[in-house]
Order: sequence, then structure tokens, then C-alpha cells
Amino acid sequence: MPQARRIGHATFETPDLDREIDYWVNVAGLVLAEREGKRAFLATKVGQLVVELNEGPEARCAGLSFEVSPKTDFAALGRELAAEGVASALANDVAPGMKRALTLEDNKGTKVQLFSEWSYLGDHHQVTGVGPMKLGHVAFVTPDVKAVTSFYEKVLRFRVSDWIGDWFSFMRCGPDHHTVNFVRGDKTQLAHIAFEAKDMSHIASACDLLGHKGIPITWGPVRHGPGHNVSVYHQDPDNNTVEFYIDLDQMKDEELGYFEPRPWHRDLPQRPKVWENGTSQLWGMKRHA
Ligand SMILES: [Fe+2]
Repeated sequence: MPQARRIGHATFETPDLDREIDYWVNVAGLVLAEREGKRAFLATKVGQLVVELNEGPEARCAGLSFEVSPKTDFAALGRELAAEGVASALANDVAPGMKRALTLEDNKGTKVQLFSEWSYLGDHHQVTGVGPMKLGHVAFVTPDVKAVTSFYEKVLRFRVSDWIGDWFSFMRCGPDHHTVNFVRGDKTQLAHIAFEAKDMSHIASACDLLGHKGIPITWGPVRHGPGHNVSVYHQDPDNNTVEFYIDLDQMKDEELGYFEPRPWHRDLPQRPKVWENGTSQLWGMKRHA
């Protein structure tokens, strides 16, 4: 089975492509790397593709891409997935800088693209918005969290970092505490997409920029329990929730199995565990109703 190692980009459908491009460039501080008709590709200031926008009837997050080992034999991988009952197909020129990808669908209907070769889309871009460092994680609401968590464990070899109760899982594919999370809800939809900021001053600047533009901060700044990141949330024009965060727990060594304190943990050492309900934040402003 493939092992996802890093999240690449998230694909959104939007009924208003120009409005979303304006948001991602002028508020989030990404760079419009390429636009072709009803599609647009946005990169961070260091040139990593992080968001793809496709015009569509309703706003939704339709896909995620993950980088796999450069040694991956995609034909063999396709056969391995088929043996597990997962259909996949090789696609060429899927995005700027990404020559090919093996495409499959997870068990909640999100398209997953696996890629091993990619190139930067320019470098050292000047940005006008927040300008995050990288795409960190994408969280989904979905009715059967256990089934989706199992799919990511088995098919993409993610590891569970934490649960809150039996309704919210946090999963890692590298040192970051979570790259995907799944929270129980009535129907499958995006919960939020999260980008890493540089430091607390960058979070404060992001809040100032949102305030100046009249965009409400819907939650935070808070320090979370699971992952211990300091986060602030707002919504884009399509009502996608966007998080900026710093200080996410890091598991530097899978064999040691504990997270690096940042800056403190209640459990020493902090290991994957089931958190009690009500522990999603350790301090900070409560989420708006
Ligand atoms: Fe998050």
C-alpha cells in the first residue's frame, strides 16, 4: 500500500472562481500560479502548489493530493490497490509542476491524487495577504469517522495521533501531528483547511489583516488540546473555514512514539490518546455559535 508522506494540495469547486481567486490572493496571501479557463492553481510564497480551484455548481472541497516516495512504482501500486478493492487510474499533467498522479477515491467520496514528482511554481513570491508557510492539514466532517479513519490507515498508511471521544480523529503521515482529521457530522463536507504561519506575530498580523478587511474571526486565537497548535479561524467567500496555526505537535521519531512538547503538554510524554470531550482547546476565545 502507498504511504502518504506529505500533503500536496486541496482541490475546491466554487461557483464564483474570480471571487475565490481574489480571496486566496489578497486575504490568504497565496500566489496565482496559473489560470486556465475555469481552473486556477495557487501556490505559497515559496512556490508550492497548495490550492486548485475549479468552477462548479456548489462550493466544496473535492480532492486532496499526497506525495509518496520517489521510488514508487505506480503500475505496481495500482495493482496492489486493486487487490484491496480500491480502483485507481494514472493521470498525466494533473496540475502545474505535477506531471502524473495515481488517482483514487477515498470512502467518503473525496478524490485522492498520489504523486511523487513535482516542481516549485516559482520562488520567493511577494504576497499581499497573510502569506502562510505551507498547507498543513485538511479536516472533513463525515458520518462514519471510524470507517474513514480506517481507510486512511489501511490504504494510505496514515497513523492515528489522537481521538477526541469516538467522534474526532487526528491522523499524521509525517512528523506533523495531523495532516487529515475527521469529525462526525450528518453529511460529508469540509470542516476546515489549515495553513501554517511563521510565528505568533504572524498570527497577530493575520488577525489584523482579517479585521482590516472586515472578515470576522470565527474562532480563536486558541491553543488546542490535541496537536497543541495555536489557531485562528475565519471563512472564505464560499464559507470554507480557513485556519492559520503555529506550534503543531511534532512526532520526530515514530519508534519513540511521543510528541515534542510545544510548549507544554499535560501528559509527559505526550503520546497518542483519546481525549475527553471538551478538551479541544486549552485556552483562548470560544468558538462563535
Ligand atoms: Fe485544524
